[in-house]
Amino acid sequence: MDRTIESLKGRDFLTLKDFGKEELESILDLSSKIKKEQKQGTKTPYLAGKTLGMLFEKPSTRTRVSFEVAIHQLGGMGLFLSSNDLQLKRGEPIKDTARVLSGYLDGIMVRTFSHDTITELSDYSSVPVINGLTDLYHPCQVMADLLTIKEEFDSFSGLSLTYLGDGKNNMAHSLLYGCSKMGINITIGAPKKYFPREDIVNEAKEIASKQGSKIKITDDPAEAVAESQVLYTDVWVSMGDEAEKEERLKDLTPFQLNDDLLAKAHQDAIVLHCLPAHRDEEITDSVMEGKKSRVFVEAENRLHAQKGILVSLMMDGGRG
Ligand code: CP
Ligand code: NVA
Repeated sequence: MDRTIESLKGRDFLTLKDFGKEELESILDLSSKIKKEQKQGTKTPYLAGKTLGMLFEKPSTRTRVSFEVAIHQLGGMGLFLSSNDLQLKRGEPIKDTARVLSGYLDGIMVRTFSHDTITELSDYSSVPVINGLTDLYHPCQVMADLLTIKEEFDSFSGLSLTYLGDGKNNMAHSLLYGCSKMGINITIGAPKKYFPREDIVNEAKEIASKQGSKIKITDDPAEAVAESQVLYTDVWVSMGDEAEKEERLKDLTPFQLNDDLLAKAHQDAIVLHCLPAHRDEEITDSVMEGKKSRVFVEAENRLHAQKGILVSLMMDGGRG
């Protein structure tokens, strides 16, 4: 195991902001290594005997299944915990839940609403806490996205990614950190009302300037995609935003990822989407199913990226 990976042992994975370029690269390299081992049929019991609790306050297909399969294939076990079935539902405080679960588990993955919930859980937990999505960030998804981009283009250097749609959501915010850390130019194309949080843009700009890459925020969809090699979109109505559905569908229509917009991007551009997708809202069926789409490679890479994250944080015990 390389030195950088060793240094990640016992840490939380709450936002990509907390990790350096070299650390993220090491996790991606480890993910690729374990992916290759698994494809060759080699068993990789890096986490034999470890238990990962997976606490969900929102629905999930990919995050839930990929984490559970990942920990199983690494020799450990996953425990699915729905917040509806825990005493949390009856008002048991997060800080008590965190200390109790830390006594049983080697790691806790959480999907919740407010980012403050996960930071409180992490403050009181003595084992690594992994963010499986909050309203603010979705860092594990971006690790799978970066793995997919690296597999496609071999390197991040000089690449440009465009994210279209709801620029204020968890995906846009985590992509801003993930791309700026890796030196990928990132453009967010969104209506002004849906521009990303200003403090996050400013931090990402600072990181990008050190990596020699650029960040652009625009409300012009055609300008946003011009010559971009990676086009990315996400749902217009995130979990928790359902009350604004009608307004959002109307506001975000000009940012639909369709064949016309795709034609304005780089000729070798690929299309990513974290899924679930709403066809004919943020993306057309023809783009989803088209030659440039890598969305299902990206979805499979959730499994491989999770393994890199889990092994880095959980190998040889928690932070104690
Ligand atoms: N992309 C993603 O996190 O999918 P799920 O909501 O199905 O976990
Ligand atoms: N922005 C979406 C991502 C789903 C994986 C949501 O939070 O619902």
